[in-house]
Amino acid sequence: MRVAKAVVPAAGLGTRFLPATKAQPKEMLPVVDRPAIHYIAEEIDACGIRDLLIVTGRGKRAIEDHFDRAIELERLLQKTGNPRLREVQRLLDRLQVFYVRQGTPRGLGHAIACAERHVDREDFAVLLPDDLYISPRPALAQLISVAEQLDAPVVAVVPVPPEDISRYGVVAVGEEIQPGVFRVLDMVEKPQAEDAPSHLGVVGRYVLPPEIFAHLRHTKPGAGGEIQLTDALRALCRERPLYAVTVAGERYDIGEPLGLLRAQISFALQRPDLRQGVVELLREVTQVSDTF
Ligand code: UTP
Repeated sequence: MRVAKAVVPAAGLGTRFLPATKAQPKEMLPVVDRPAIHYIAEEIDACGIRDLLIVTGRGKRAIEDHFDRAIELERLLQKTGNPRLREVQRLLDRLQVFYVRQGTPRGLGHAIACAERHVDREDFAVLLPDDLYISPRPALAQLISVAEQLDAPVVAVVPVPPEDISRYGVVAVGEEIQPGVFRVLDMVEKPQAEDAPSHLGVVGRYVLPPEIFAHLRHTKPGAGGEIQLTDALRALCRERPLYAVTVAGERYDIGEPLGLLRAQISFALQRPDLRQGVVELLREVTQVSDTF
């Protein structure tokens, strides 16, 4: 496998964040002082990928504006020498960002199918902006290493407690072929805990071959009436080896409010300029809330 393109589906409705997402994309909600999708672009850049396709839809224009020049701000900040905008600019100098619209949000599988023309018979990476990582090595880089070494598609998985497993696509796996790497035998979308084939839930990083598009074309709407990527992956793993990788690092599910809050705190604690302030703030806030 050789990965030179990344696809980021960002056309979902973000209903779990209403009303915050009524008039702004979920992917633009900030984690500390950067939009979630900005961390994803940084991860792609850190893997040496230069070609980023974002799948957008109605009401998602702020994403395009974020990855564009901001002439007025640049002029203003040039005078004050503020480095913050320069950081975005440097990222944009390296990445080429493309867009395709998903007219109707018909599910993650359908969003990825919208990327077919752009991907054009190449292997590619998929990153969901709902999942952020704090990790010693970028999560996607870990997946790409395994995909290159085994010359096979891979999906990221995390161990999930039984009470949460029905929110995930879950893999049935063979033996661990190397630390943290398992052959995928089958997959089930959102099983009940008693029907789950393992405790490993698929999360938002994938390295996929172009054959996935043919499987997506034949995928009928599944759980929730949506075209599920899991169903196409299931067909793929019957045709060629597919591997599940437990990424080294901490994963943050920012697709729901408590997960976003957890990420806010953890990402802020990683920042030398904010760490001490956050520690004091948490101490203060927990004391205050104890008094109510
Ligand atoms: P989610 O199902 O978590 O996102 O999809 P959502 O539908 O926006 O969120 P809720 O459940 O209503 O709160 C995971 C990723 O896939 C994208 C989303 O934007 C998100 O990044 N997605 C999902 C699409 O691009 N198109 C879709 O039709 C569905």
